[in-house]
Parts: sequence; C-alpha cells; structure tokens
Amino acid sequence: MSYDIRDLGLAEQGRQRIAWAARHMPVLRQIGDEFAAEQPFRGQRIAASLHITTETAVLLSTLQAGGAQVALCASNPLSTRDDVCAALVENGISVYAFYDEDLAAYRRHIEATLAIDPHIVMDDGADLIVALHNRAENGAVVAGIEETTTGVVRARALAEERRLRFPVIAVNDTPTKRFFDNRYGTGQNTIDGILRATNVFLPGAVFVVAGYGWCGRGIAMRAHGMGARVIVCEVNATRALEATMDGFQVLPMAEAALLGDIFVTATGMAGVIGREHFALMKDGAILANSGHFDVEIDVASLRDLATSTAQVRSHMTEYHLANGHALYLLAQGRLVGQAAAEASPAAVMDLSFADQALSTRYLVQQHQRLVPDVYDVPSDIDERVAQLKLRALGVKLDTLNEAQLAYQHSWQLGTA
Ligand SMILES: NC(=O)c1ccc[n+]([C@@H]2O[C@H](COP(=O)([O-])OP(=O)(O)OC[C@H]3O[C@@H](n4cnc5c(N)ncnc54)[C@H](O)[C@@H]3O)[C@@H](O)[C@H]2O)c1
Repeated sequence: MSYDIRDLGLAEQGRQRIAWAARHMPVLRQIGDEFAAEQPFRGQRIAASLHITTETAVLLSTLQAGGAQVALCASNPLSTRDDVCAALVENGISVYAFYDEDLAAYRRHIEATLAIDPHIVMDDGADLIVALHNRAENGAVVAGIEETTTGVVRARALAEERRLRFPVIAVNDTPTKRFFDNRYGTGQNTIDGILRATNVFLPGAVFVVAGYGWCGRGIAMRAHGMGARVIVCEVNATRALEATMDGFQVLPMAEAALLGDIFVTATGMAGVIGREHFALMKDGAILANSGHFDVEIDVASLRDLATSTAQVRSHMTEYHLANGHALYLLAQGRLVGQAAAEASPAAVMDLSFADQALSTRYLVQQHQRLVPDVYDVPSDIDERVAQLKLRALGVKLDTLNEAQLAYQHSWQLGTA
C-alpha cells in the first residue's frame, strides 16, 4: 500500500483521539454498522480530499467498513493532523498528506490520491473535481460529492459552463449540514481558533464579521454570546437586513476597519479585507479568516505593506506597517478554526459526515440515473439524519394525527 505521511509512529496517539471523536458520532457509528452488514461499497474505490481530522477518520472508516478502498489527501495544508494520518495508514487507507505541506507537495498528493483511479471523488473545496476536469478524461469516476460552500460554487460554475462531466451531490446545501456544521460548528471553531492563537479577552472587544451567511451568522452569534460588540459587513441586502434585525450593527468594511479589534472573514469571496483597509486599522488589530480558501484577506498586500514581520505565537504573525501600527494575522489567513484549533467538533460533524456517507451510497447505487449536474442530497437522507441525531440525543418529537394530516392536504377548510 502506498502513502506519504510524516510519521507512522504517531499511529497510537491518532487511534486514541479518533476513538474519542467516534464516541461523539453516534449517527455515523450506526451507519457504519449498517454498511458493515450490507457492504454497499464492495469493489468501489473512493478518493477523498478532506480536512484530515479525527472526525474525517471516522467517516473514512465508515466507508471502509462498507467495503470501499479509500485514498485520502488534504483539503488544506494546515488542517492535517499527522497522528490521524498515521492511524489511517495503519488501518489500510492510503494517505498522502502532512501538516504544513508546501504547495508542490499538496498538488503531488492530489495526483497520488487520484492515482487509485476512483469511482467516487469526495471533496471539500472541489480540488479533486477540478483536477479531474483539467485532465482529458475521468478514468473510472462516475460521481462526486462536495462538502463545502466554496466547492459547491466551483462545481456549479463547471455545470454552468456545461463542462461538468459527472453528477456531484452538494452535501453543503442540505439543511442537516449547513444549519448546524456551517452555523454552530464554524461559530464554535472560529472562536476556538482565535482564542487558542491569541488568548485575547472577548468581552467588550469590537468584533467585525464579514459575511452574514451560514458561517457568519454562527460566528457573530457566538462572539456576541461571549460579550464582544459585533459589527457585520455584507454585500447582500437581505442578509444585511437580517443582521440588523438580529441586533448587530452593519457597516461597510471601510468604516468597520476603523473600529474593529478583531476581524473575521467568512464570505467565500476574494479580497474582502485589502490594502485600503489595513491602512485604516487600529494598532493591534487581529485578522482571521474562516472562509474555505486563503483569499479573503489580501495577505500579499499585507506582506508588501509591512516594514517588518515577526512570528509572535504559533499561529500569529505580526506585521509592522509604516504608520507605526502592528496588525496580527492568524493562521496565515487560512481557516483559523481548522489551523489553530481542531475544526468543528465531532458531535456536529456527525451530521455532515452522515450526509456524506449516505449520499455516497446513493451515488454508488443511482449514478446511472443522474446526468452531469449538481444535485441536492435526497430529502429522505436529510430527514433520516435528523431523526437519527434526535434519537441519539434522546429528544422526542410530536407527530401529526389523522385529522391534522387531512387538514394539511385540504383546500376546503378555512375560516369557520
Ligand atoms: N470554517 C469552517 O469550518 C467552514 C465551514 C463551512 C463552510 N466554510 C466556508 O466558509 C465560507 C462561507 O460559507 P457560508 O456557508 O457561510 O456561505 P454563504 O453563501 O451562506 O454566506 C456567504 C456570505 O458572504 C457574503 N459576502 C460575499 N462577499 C462579501 C464581501 N465582499 N463582503 C461582505 N460579505 C460578503 C454573501 O452575501 C453571503 O451572505 C465558504 O468559503 C465556505 O466554504 C467554512
């Protein structure tokens, strides 16, 4: 079996930490038992590009239990945990990744992962899908599955240009994923990343969130909950209105730049905080990103403006500007919660990865019926994942009685 990781000797530590994550993933564990009995992936090769965390290891073991042969590379060079890589390799998964790999290694590892000639590609950011579309042909690939907002945007862009060559399921867009992972997961992991990187005190701090989408809402909610004074920057009128009615001040970045102590981007857009903003910021302002790619804060311009830099803490770089101010960039402008903390916790990734696992089985069984396009997770999968999670949490629901079901489908009943 081929692999390229940092240190196989870390496997035991990785195994312990993966077991801890698995304890908090009851839905995925149940799906794993189902797969072990059914073997839906017998003879199937799956290539995955994901954040290599303990939770991802539980997902891949679930697919493996169902009979899949799996190869894995990173979806971000700073989120890879070397001990998890080692434990996965010991479990028979070909892993090509190590923490803080350079771009050349990152690209080489994508190619190595695709070298298994997969039937299914599982992406977080669409790097595998795009690598395949840069080739003349797909090999054995029959379908893809995408985990995050930015990857779905890339897959849809391929579909709009009529260049998408196989069906892709947008796991990101299903309610049991984005309502919880994007909102509460990113909300928690972003605050966790900022605190671990800086140890700053949040009460009273002016906390600027760029983007009030699923992730931005969660970040703003949690920062507010810890006593920060939150300002939101948006380009979408409805979202800006929502932020206003949720009680946040909404300002253009050019005005927020003067006020913020901490800035977080979560837009999926490039160049959200740039040269013109750095010049306005207070001495000591902290800059972090929670969007998928490291394009939201213009790090190249920050580097260019700086008269000197210093690595102050493991995930914090100080940039001295000519105006005498110092700005502090976290995790090189990459996802702060993944790089400086441990990404979203297992209990919430249980939902996203249950959607991934069940959608992968659906693709294996149904791909012949799907033309190349971007598809939603089937609603029965989403419903089942919610039901399983509620059961695991011990939460009971009401159900509609016969009369209510009839009322729901009636047009005759109105004002009595
Ligand atoms: N950190 C994590 O754990 C994590 C988890 C899930 C998704 N993501 C990533 O976070 C990003 C956001 O995802 P989402 O699900 O919240 O997307 P979303 O589409 O729900 O929200 C993005 C918001 O940003 C706004 N926006 C776009 N450009 C802007 C600009 N220049 N200034 C201010 N606002 C702007 C949009 O109007 C939108 O409201 C994506 O890159 C996604 O892949 C990160």
